[in-house]
Amino acid sequence: MKPIQVGLLGIGTVGSGVFNVLRRNQEEIRRRAGRGIEIAMVADLDVERARSVVGEGVQVVNDARAVIANPDIDIVIELIGGYGIAKALVLEAIAAGKHVVTANKALLAVHGTEIFSAASAKGVMVAFEAAVAGGIPIIKALREGLTANRIQWIAGIINGTTNFILSEMRDKGLDFDVVLKEAQRLGYAEADPTFDIEGVDAAHKATIMSAIAFGIPVQFDKAYVEGITKLGAADIKYAEQLGYRIKLLGITKRADKGVELRVHPSLVPAKRLIANVEGAMNAVVVQGDAVGTTLYYGKGAGSEPTASAVIADLVDIARLHTADPEHRVPHLAFQPHTLTDAMDALPVLPMSEVVTSYYLRLRVADQAGVLAKVTGILAGAGISIDAVLQREADEVGGEGSTQTDLIILTHDTREGTMNDAIAQMQALPTVLAPITRIRKEELN
Ligand code: HSE
Repeated sequence: MKPIQVGLLGIGTVGSGVFNVLRRNQEEIRRRAGRGIEIAMVADLDVERARSVVGEGVQVVNDARAVIANPDIDIVIELIGGYGIAKALVLEAIAAGKHVVTANKALLAVHGTEIFSAASAKGVMVAFEAAVAGGIPIIKALREGLTANRIQWIAGIINGTTNFILSEMRDKGLDFDVVLKEAQRLGYAEADPTFDIEGVDAAHKATIMSAIAFGIPVQFDKAYVEGITKLGAADIKYAEQLGYRIKLLGITKRADKGVELRVHPSLVPAKRLIANVEGAMNAVVVQGDAVGTTLYYGKGAGSEPTASAVIADLVDIARLHTADPEHRVPHLAFQPHTLTDAMDALPVLPMSEVVTSYYLRLRVADQAGVLAKVTGILAGAGISIDAVLQREADEVGGEGSTQTDLIILTHDTREGTMNDAIAQMQALPTVLAPITRIRKEELN
């Protein structure tokens, strides 16, 4: 059978990986897919560089629309990124009857509903394994491998840049700003790292996993997003003393009244496997009612790891594109007509309704009665304390210091209740600085 013809939009780091892996493993991929998969056309603004990657024999253009307009192209791979031109091109490719493979988490988390419905109307597939956790086949696992389960929660380290920064902060006892500069110098963090360090990239990925896990539409606008920029070396150290590591987690959880969808730094017990995922690696824990806890670990970015996911999508499409569209795996795992009703039954909860436990650090005057006042406020709010750690004043503020750090771990409570308690504690004259609050996830 004639090889399936692929057009590639954007041949940077990931695109080059796709081209190289497809060429290197072409014989095995052909045996798996049942036919060859051939990149026939590449569009990139830098035609010279694109040509240097693909050599002769592949048509290289600087106009992505020329790829979409080519009737011989069966699948368009979008590796441009962002929601601007990439969105227009993906919708145009769908309208032209092409199947689409994309690594664009931002596009799907924000505009997924429009894109998937355009694809369903046209009977084409939009595949996006590379959009979440790079080379880890987490979309496949959630959508197919765990299809028997009622998923209860997912918690993932799904941004390598921030995990690298947190690992360095812990290993070297350094503050965020210092490590970020070093990460940029080494090329681990982008020149503009905002999406990574503010948690936006992780929230895009958590949004996609949430939709697949719970059968609801993608709802990035309802995700709670908090990055790692305000984390200090002191909190990492105190967490360590209490038996925890701090990780930026993307969490989505089934709760009584809806679904939690949130990204923020979290204390995780140091004994959990996911707490020991270091450097730029990614890991996702999924809890299903039948299977129990499963863990997926690997490289969340990089040329060939991401290419591995893109090519898996190409193989899926090569196998399934002749199937009746009704019998293909639905984009978001559940039949599309069920998504909106499910959204009504399972709304994404506001952060004030989320239930979790907390690490609090209070800089307080080292005086009699301070601890009693603080714990009195927590008791009054019905918040149960799990552990308290108080450092020697000298250790915190130097010899003769009259200030100290009070660290409190709580049991589960509603975020709204905790907000009120923090406001009351903050108003005490003996609380001398803004209270640090980091959420804690036992993941058991
Ligand atoms: N910038 C992401 C990360 C990789 O640091 O993990 C692409 O999503």
